[in-house]
Amino acid sequence: MKSLVAYFSHEGENSVNFDIKNVKKGHTRTVAEKIADMTGADIFRIVPEEPYPSDYDAVCRRAQAEYEDNIHPAIKAPFTSLDSYDTIYIGFPIWFRSYPRVVASFIDCFDFTGKTVKPFCTNEEGEFGMADMELERAVKAKGGKTAKGLAVRGSDVDSCDEALRKWLQ
Ligand SMILES: Cc1cc2nc3c(=O)[nH]c(=O)nc-3n(C[C@H](O)[C@H](O)[C@H](O)COP(=O)(O)O)c2cc1C
Repeated sequence: MKSLVAYFSHEGENSVNFDIKNVKKGHTRTVAEKIADMTGADIFRIVPEEPYPSDYDAVCRRAQAEYEDNIHPAIKAPFTSLDSYDTIYIGFPIWFRSYPRVVASFIDCFDFTGKTVKPFCTNEEGEFGMADMELERAVKAKGGKTAKGLAVRGSDVDSCDEALRKWLQ
C-alpha cells in the first residue's frame, strides 16, 4: 500500500514571527513537499473552489466565519479515491487553534476504515492547539485512526528536516 500527503496551505499575507508578511510559498506546502520527498508518497494539494483571499484581515474574517458556523467549503477538483493508500499525512496551517474548514471538506469525502492519518501542521505558537484532538474525532467518525502528529513553527520550515526524519521513522 502507498502513502498520500494531502495538504492545504495559504499563500499571500500571513503572520510570520507575529509580523504580517507576504508569503510566496506556504509553510505547510514546504513541509508537505519534504514529506513526499522523504517517503516517496503521492501528494495532493487541497484547494478550495473559492480561493481564500490574500489579504490577512480578509482571510482571518472568512476563516473565523467558516469555523464558527462549521462551513465546509467545496474543494476544487477533489481527490477521488483513497483505495490504494493506508497512510494519509494530512497537513494544514493552524487557524484559530484548529484546522481550516477546507480540511474538514477533504475528510468529508472519504471512508477512512483501515487507514491511519498522520497529521502535521505549521503554526506561530501553541503547536496543534485543538486541531489534533478535533482531527482525531473527525477521522474516527469516518472509521479511521490517527497517529502522533508533528507541529512545525512557520518560520522553521526550512530547517525542520531532522525533526521530520525523526517523526517519519
Ligand atoms: C486565518 C489565520 C488564522 C491563524 N491562526 C493561528 C492560530 O490560532 N495559532 C497559530 O499559532 N497560528 C495561527 N496562524 C498562523 C499560521 O498558522 C502560520 O503562519 C502557518 O505557518 C501558515 O501556514 P501556510 O503558509 O501553510 O498557510 C493563523 C494564520 C491565519 C491566516
